[in-house]
This record gives sequence, structure tokens and C-alpha cells, in this order.
Amino acid sequence: MIWEQFARPALFRIGGGDAETAHEWTLHRLARLSSVPSALSVLIKKYGTDNPVEVFGVRFPNPVGLAAGMDKNGIALPAWPALGFGFVEAGTVTALAQPGNEKPRVFRLRESAAIINRMGFNNEGAAALAERLAALPDRLPVPLGISLGKSKVTPLSGAVEDYLTSLRALGKHADYIAVNVSSPNTPGLRALQGREHLDELLGALVKEADGLPVLVKIAPDLTDGAIGEALGVCADTGVAGVIATNTTLARNGLAPADLFRLEETGGLSGRPLTTRAREVVSFVHRETGGRLPIIGVGGIMTPDDAARMFDAGAALIQLYSGFIYGGPALVRAAASVRR
Ligand SMILES: Cc1cc2nc3c(=O)[nH]c(=O)nc-3n(C[C@H](O)[C@H](O)[C@H](O)COP(=O)(O)O)c2cc1C
Repeated sequence: MIWEQFARPALFRIGGGDAETAHEWTLHRLARLSSVPSALSVLIKKYGTDNPVEVFGVRFPNPVGLAAGMDKNGIALPAWPALGFGFVEAGTVTALAQPGNEKPRVFRLRESAAIINRMGFNNEGAAALAERLAALPDRLPVPLGISLGKSKVTPLSGAVEDYLTSLRALGKHADYIAVNVSSPNTPGLRALQGREHLDELLGALVKEADGLPVLVKIAPDLTDGAIGEALGVCADTGVAGVIATNTTLARNGLAPADLFRLEETGGLSGRPLTTRAREVVSFVHRETGGRLPIIGVGGIMTPDDAARMFDAGAALIQLYSGFIYGGPALVRAAASVRR
């Protein structure tokens, strides 16, 4: 209630309503909070939920994580567990620092409880994140995933080496690696979800990771056949799990008041993605006989959405849009859902 009535309206007014300005403002405040250990330990005692689960050999204090893209450069990592998250996925980072697409590139679709973004992997690069992680006084109190993507200037033929460069810089800081081949905002990236590319990429990353769990994040726009192929590659290469899903290129489910955003390019997240993301999780769960761990993400806006994502077969879940619209109360409520 406090989030919806006071905090969210105030945050949504920052920067004249520009979503990225509000995001940067909030992130920098959380970064400041991250450097005050006494405040963090009070918050984590108050808001942390103890509902532990072990997945792909890693122990999570609760199953609700922060999805990739919120803290791309890892500037506020210690703050997320203090807000109740049971794990954090930093990134997506690329081997080379890059500015991303032109602004504006993030749009809130309030009546639809949705977001359209075409950030384009704006990030300071893998080496900068590695330096920041090395400077943290302690490891985080929750598992840290690091999401890797391909640098925009690197052609698809150089993709494997590009991801490997990032992995070599960051592997030692991570509890798992997420291979992002599903962002719609880097031209050609999604082609890496095809069998041949994926086989080479995941094979090389799993080998280099040397026991560190490697997960692959897939798009909700793949056909069942294409998801089936990707799962075949996961089995062949020893991938530890699937993250389903990234944002969608579809534009179903927009409220009439948001239809003026219909032509905005980028990936759509939030409420319009709820059903499709759950369908993909359910499909992956069925196809793999429940043997491949799944992180369910996409349109989890209420505790009931969280419960249904677990029912569909997710071992862990992540929030992005739900956190923007529902705030820390949603994290806590979802973290104590019975599985
Ligand atoms: C502004 C924004 C930036 C994002 N950046 C990334 C990213 O860098 N890497 C990634 O794997 N997913 C990224 N995502 C996708 C989210 O991690 C998540 O998969 C997607 O938004 C669906 O979840 P949601 O409906 O809870 O938002 C981004 C999403 C948004 C809204």
C-alpha cells in the first residue's frame, strides 16, 4: 500500500516521468545504501525471508531473485538482499563497454503494468564489473548470478570469444553464469539460440566455467520446436538450467490507454508477458521431465503469479517489472509463497 500510494507515484514523477532517469536516481541511492553495512544488516534482518532452497548445487536463502538488467554494472549489489531478494543477477555485461541505444529507450506502460525497453546492453564492460566485485569487502549474503551478452561491434562469428572474455574476467566472482542470447535489442543476438551457434557457444562456456553452473536465458517468442532444440543443446553441453523468459517482441495485452506505445520498438515485459512466460516454463518442465532446473521470469506481478510460476515448474523465480510496480512488498510476499 505504501509503495503504491506514496513511493511509486513519487518515483514515477522523477525526471518529468522519464523511466530511465527514475531508474538511475533510485539505483544511485541504493548504491549509497550499499556502502553502509550497519543499515544493510538491520534491513536484511527486517526484510530478508528465510525460505531456503538448493538448486544446481547452490543454496538460496529464498527463491526470489532480482532479474538481469536492473543493476547492469553491479553498483548497488549489497542493497538487493536488504530489500528481501534471495539472489541477484548482475548484468547483462559485455566484453567491451558500450553506450547502448539512443535515449529515450525505456517506457512505462502504466495501465498495462508493463515496460517496453530497447536499452541495447548499455554497460561499462566485464572488466569494470570484475573490478567493482573485487573491491567489495565481502561476498554477498545471497548467490550472485552474472549475465553475459555479446558486444554489439563483435560479429556473430566472434561471439564465442566475446562471451569467453567476459567469463574469464567474471567467473570467479559468480555463483552462476547466465548466457543471454535472447535480448531483442542487439541485432542478430537471438540467432545464437539456433542449434549450431548455441551448441558451440554453450559447449565452450561450460568447459571454461569448469564446474561453475552455466544457465541459458531464452526468449518467449521461440516456437516449441525451437525451444525443444535449445533444450537438446542444453542436455548435450551440460548446461545447469534455463532462465525463461526474456522480454517479448509481441504486443498483446496492452490496455487501451497504452496503445499509443504500440509502435515503440524493444522488448515488452510485465503483465502482458505473464501467461506466455509461464507457458514456456511449463513446456520446458514437461520436455525435460523436471530434470533441468528453471528460473521462471516474466510478468510475475502478484504473489499468486509467483505461486503459479512455481506450480508450472520453476525452481526459482525473478522479478523486474513486478518490482517496479509492486516494490519490496512483492519480493517479500513472493519469497514466502509455499512451493
Ligand atoms: C529496462 C529493462 C532492462 C532489461 N535488461 C536486461 C538485461 O540486460 N539482460 C537480461 O537478460 N534481461 C534484461 N531484461 C529482461 C528482464 O530480466 C526480464 O527477463 C523481463 O523483463 C521479464 O520479466 P518481468 O516481466 O518481471 O519484467 C530487462 C528488462 C527491462 C524492463
